[in-house]
Amino acid sequence: MTEQTTNPPTRKVYVETYGCQMNEADSQIVLSVMNRGGFEPTADMAAADVIFLNTCSIRDNAEARIHGRLTNIAYYKKRNPGLVVGILGCMAERLRRDLLGDGSIVDVVVGPDEYRALPELVDEARHGEKGLAVKLSRVETYDDITPLRTEGISAWLSVMRGCDKFCTFCVVPFTRGRERSRSLSSIVREVEELAAHDFREITLLGQNVNSYRSEGSDFADLLAAVADVDPRIRIRYTTSHPQDMSDRLIETMASRANICNYIHLPVQSGSNRVLRLMNRTYTVEHYLERIARIHELIPGVSMSTDIITGFPTETEDDHRLTLELIERVRYDGAYTFKYSPRENTKAWAMGDDVPEEVKARRLEEVIALCRGISAENNQRHVGAVEQVLVDGPSRKDELEWRGRTDTNKVVIFRHGDEQIGDYVPMKIHRASAATLFGSAVDAAGNATFIPLQMAIA
Ligand code: 5AD
Ligand code: SF4
Repeated sequence: MTEQTTNPPTRKVYVETYGCQMNEADSQIVLSVMNRGGFEPTADMAAADVIFLNTCSIRDNAEARIHGRLTNIAYYKKRNPGLVVGILGCMAERLRRDLLGDGSIVDVVVGPDEYRALPELVDEARHGEKGLAVKLSRVETYDDITPLRTEGISAWLSVMRGCDKFCTFCVVPFTRGRERSRSLSSIVREVEELAAHDFREITLLGQNVNSYRSEGSDFADLLAAVADVDPRIRIRYTTSHPQDMSDRLIETMASRANICNYIHLPVQSGSNRVLRLMNRTYTVEHYLERIARIHELIPGVSMSTDIITGFPTETEDDHRLTLELIERVRYDGAYTFKYSPRENTKAWAMGDDVPEEVKARRLEEVIALCRGISAENNQRHVGAVEQVLVDGPSRKDELEWRGRTDTNKVVIFRHGDEQIGDYVPMKIHRASAATLFGSAVDAAGNATFIPLQMAIA
């Protein structure tokens, strides 16, 4: 038999991604590896020969969703017994062999550092051999694999993997392993390629992106090098840790116009006692000092954060301190979570003593406060002219398009002749908690397109 018949190029792989942006980026690496192995990507699950779920373990409900999804996929497997089903990512790493147990429809379980083995494991699975590959690596960065990106103007680019911080609530150090960085030169090369393909926005990714370190370069060096490739490309990054938010990094952000004035800086709690229990390694005072420095060097900067409510032993006083911190920083956005105990983490051993309804009530209070503050912050943009990078049609109305400001705020506008990837000055007419509404103006601030309602009025 020829190679062609054993490995026909028409086999199709479908990947569904859960969790963080790192997983989005990893799925593109998975597609690239599979493509080399003779598989084409498909967006149609029913047409797939291989279905991968790239999973997240960060909270219990993330894992519950995957179990639910597997029940749906069982239907496809019944119709097509040759279908190979794989669980990839953090849940694969955490649950390992348990996912292959009796009656399971899962054929392969592959952790975040073993994606190179996927085509081989899929082939073995087709011959009835279930596959498990969950070794974590100290060196794997997939540096030489160009992710298979979908068309568009925005690209994820992972620059480091893993995490060494060991926050006591977090499974990531166990599911993604030790911190390791890609080389600066290979990252810059990838950015040059993206520039040649007209990408307009690149987000540098890492679980702890600002602890990037490679051959004497730190994250500030990397950010400068990447920003200097093409001034027409906006550079963003996520996620950063307050401990590694150095002056040099803030200065570098301030020094380049195409590094976006937006920082996601998870604080988790406003109580020093809870921060200590979380092993976050900073105090509220340190965090606020960093925020002050950021505002000093980057006027108009937009900030977002992550907050957990109901961490073990969290009292009403601790919770109040979190609300006070939110009021002081006045975030533009927040990702908020109820604490979810994860087996084998240090916090697991602390018990889960905050009742569910208390966690939920505190979460609601945090959300309401953050929503009010971001609505107020957004009002400040009304009347201003913002440079908007045009993303394309909005989901609701094809005459309305969307774009984003440098500070990562969504702007909805009535579409004229703007093209995807254009930078367009827009005057902001109104704002809600989540969105700005504007219309294009010329350099002198005059409307270039009269929105329909205004033209009629
Ligand atoms: N429970 C709730 N939230 C968590 N996060 C991480 N682990 C947990 C957990 N066990 C949140 C943190 C982190 C974000 C990515 O997810 O806020 O910054
Ligand atoms: Fe998890 Fe903390 Fe590492 Fe973030 S810094 S991935 S929360 S251990």
